[in-house]
Amino acid sequence: MSGQHYLLPAQVFSVEDYKKLASQRIEASAWCYLESGSADELTLAWNTAAFASIKLVGKTLCDFANANTELTLLGETFPFPLLLAPVAWHKLFHVEGELATCQAASAIGAGMILSTQASMLLEEVAAKATKPLWFQLYIQQDRVFTAELVNRAELAGYKALVLTIDAPISGIRNNEQRANFSLPAGISSVNLAGMQQQPCATTNLLDSPLFSGFLANNPTWHEVEWLQSITKLPVILKGITSPLDAERAIQIGVNGLIVSNHGGRVLDTLPASIDLLPAITRQVADRVPVLMDGGIRRGTDILKALALGAKAVLIGRPYIYALATAGAVGVVHLLNILRAEFEAAMVLTGCKCLADINSAVLWADHQ
Ligand code: FNR
Ligand code: LAC
Repeated sequence: MSGQHYLLPAQVFSVEDYKKLASQRIEASAWCYLESGSADELTLAWNTAAFASIKLVGKTLCDFANANTELTLLGETFPFPLLLAPVAWHKLFHVEGELATCQAASAIGAGMILSTQASMLLEEVAAKATKPLWFQLYIQQDRVFTAELVNRAELAGYKALVLTIDAPISGIRNNEQRANFSLPAGISSVNLAGMQQQPCATTNLLDSPLFSGFLANNPTWHEVEWLQSITKLPVILKGITSPLDAERAIQIGVNGLIVSNHGGRVLDTLPASIDLLPAITRQVADRVPVLMDGGIRRGTDILKALALGAKAVLIGRPYIYALATAGAVGVVHLLNILRAEFEAAMVLTGCKCLADINSAVLWADHQ
């Protein structure tokens, strides 16, 4: 447990600086939970490496009168195209948990997506928000419970549902297993309290627990349509990794897509998110907004994602580093760092507003 921190530490100028401090403050097994990717962590490494391999084109002597980074997404206006991705159990990283994160997001006007596996009640967090929140949903085996959860999110004022579809099972994360991570007493998925746990269908050692039991009631496209039928909120699918899935999602009328490999935490050797993006945005052809996450660590990464067709990006681990280091103040600071880096990248590539950012800023197009 990290304790309460309000003061900004000295000498913190980047996501990487926050990461170093956070690694000293977060308990060792929770650190492994945060940092791990699945299996050999290749996708995890590619997520950042792929950004590093994309080069930019500088553009000088541009006019920046009325320059801005404003964005409209699903009818809401955001000051800049950077949202906080759903991350489970913020109390693992700071005593004030999701409330601190939400306070920071509201203060700076950033979008925040609260995880189904939040460590605080979704109503309690929403009550403190002065800017709209979105709710990330994992469809539970108990569909009645799931429908109630959706209803609670609607009543509490969440403005969109982000349905995560890429983690029907949790990733096999060896580094987390080696660290023997388990939730400490007092931290749990409080929004799922009281849910009926499905009994394991097989006791036969020769059967696969996954195929004979766990996945028996796995959500399918049918459940996405069911979700659309029980909610008036826009539904965004998170975890799109192929043009095929993107097309199917559009055909059934989803309102947005998030290209994501879950921060390299589920299926190892999926391509980096930024490498997945071009084929998917081509397929989508602006029919719905496409967002992306995975590996964003610099303002130039945000610029590159937008140049390849994303409307906005999400960060996961980076804001947790700041939360663990300095609570809400840290998260505001971190968002400001990335915002300033992004604005600098826009200026130096001659982009005055988000609509100016396109593949012309990428060096590959100029060779
Ligand atoms: C996640 N992510 C995640 N996604 C989701 O839909 N629901 C969740 O509860 C969680 N929980 C979670 C916990 C932790 C510790 C991490 C690191 C990630 C995935 C997250 O939303 C996002 O896709 C990635 O974190 C993006 O990659 P970066 O920014 O961490 O590189
Ligand atoms: C994770 C789950 C909670 O990535 O989505 O840890």
